[in-house]
Amino acid sequence: MAKNKTPIIILNYKTYLESTGNNAIQLSKYVEEASNESGVNMAVAPQAVDLYNVIEAVDIPVFSQHMDAITPGGHTGSTLPEAIKQSGAVGSLINHSEQRLTLADIEEVVSKTKDLELSSVLCTNNVKTSMAASLYNPDYIAIEPPELIGTGIPVSKANPEVVENTVTQIHDINRDISVLCGAGITTGEDMKAALDLGAEGVLLASGIIKADNQKDALLDLVSLI
Ligand code: G3P
Repeated sequence: MAKNKTPIIILNYKTYLESTGNNAIQLSKYVEEASNESGVNMAVAPQAVDLYNVIEAVDIPVFSQHMDAITPGGHTGSTLPEAIKQSGAVGSLINHSEQRLTLADIEEVVSKTKDLELSSVLCTNNVKTSMAASLYNPDYIAIEPPELIGTGIPVSKANPEVVENTVTQIHDINRDISVLCGAGITTGEDMKAALDLGAEGVLLASGIIKADNQKDALLDLVSLI
């Protein structure tokens, strides 16, 4: 799968009301405008029920938040990889801290993304897990210390070692994997600090979604790069 240009910003909509339904479409238009104005590659990850409408509304890359390790058939309420592909999404977050998978399921889902030519953003919580994750050869590894998620305390300042060490260890194993970081990323300073630590982008949510002016927050995020 051709990877998206880096640095890349992936905005995870989670299940906030400010990024659900019509709000998901409006926010995605803000992201597209900010990406076009700044020249920085930005992608969004809406809830599964909003995927198709968001993809129809904008031309920026759209990712699913999750993919289940299932095959077509009787799996009520699950998210089928083939359905994500047919929605027009370019890839999926995998093993996010709010939607953890078993090792066996991670292997199956990352393998399935390759079969379907989807980008894989494999989420991890520390350096060791990231090293293990690199053996599955995902396109991206997104290191996110769970204790910082949603706090507004940026990982790039609160725990720069975990970012720097993840980049170093992953690239010793597989230089083709792009390392992203997330948790608490909010401002242009947070974004610049992440890139200075060797990350090739960020995964973020509340700092943008809960902002008074979402588009201004996006433009501030890329103001120093
Ligand atoms: O997937 C990114 C997310 O877990 C980070 O959350 O709200 O700290 O930007 P937040």
